[in-house]
Amino acid sequence: MTNGDLALRLAGAGFVAAADEAAELLEAAAGDASRLERMVGRRLNGEPLEWITGSVDFCGLQIGVTRGVYVPRWHTEALAERAARCLPDTGAAVDICCGSGAIAAVLSARRPHATVLATDLDPRAVACARANGVDARIGDLFDGLPEELCGTVDLVTGVVPHVPSHDLGLLHRDTLTFETSLAYDGGPDGLSILRRAVTGAAGWLCPGGTLLLGLGGDQASELALPGFEDIVVVRDVDGDVRGVEASRAPSR
Ligand SMILES: C[S@@+](CC[C@H](N)C(=O)[O-])C[C@H]1O[C@@H](n2cnc3c(N)ncnc32)[C@H](O)[C@@H]1O
Repeated sequence: MTNGDLALRLAGAGFVAAADEAAELLEAAAGDASRLERMVGRRLNGEPLEWITGSVDFCGLQIGVTRGVYVPRWHTEALAERAARCLPDTGAAVDICCGSGAIAAVLSARRPHATVLATDLDPRAVACARANGVDARIGDLFDGLPEELCGTVDLVTGVVPHVPSHDLGLLHRDTLTFETSLAYDGGPDGLSILRRAVTGAAGWLCPGGTLLLGLGGDQASELALPGFEDIVVVRDVDGDVRGVEASRAPSR
């Protein structure tokens, strides 16, 4: 099948980036026609392209993404690069709710002498992150991290689930058909895990250490940040809120 034929087939099924997707599928199938047909079938069924090809480009890195693991989004790339700029060369960072470990992988690529750890509640995500070279631990937010790091971490970052439970039904139809709500569900107002992340980060960070969390909409103004100062709302090039950054205030 040529790129043009496959692109037409995908476009006919409503895929807007049909030509790009066709090229990726053809490359991943590596000339195996029956494999390609199986891959196309999965895609036409709505499965994420990245699960089918097995990887995604994230900040110029090829990040492996296995079935069931949240696919890192393009808008998280700026957050990951920002996080890397906040991490001292030989500092320590924790990426909570790491999924595939994409953010942690960027931190390690940009700061190869830093200590970068990551956590996720989902064993599939932890296995995927480890396959991406990330030192990932299974745990709820900060559980599973070495105790001796407590109070010494220079950067805590993460894109934690932050969709209000009642809005989960508004996500793209294919999202929860294939992905787990564990990756999205932020509780009644979307802030439940973000609040716990703030409280936990206050304990793990060193004074002056940076907290950088992904969030959206009005969440930056709704999220209380006790123990933090120099709060900055992070926006993307379109002006949409994508995160919040703050410094751990010195203990009094
Ligand atoms: C929105 S995804 C983000 C993944 C990754 N940070 C990224 O941007 O690609 C959220 C991740 O949080 C994990 N998760 C959900 N609740 C968690 C918790 N209480 N502790 C640790 N991880 C959690 C999910 O398994 C999922 O991998």
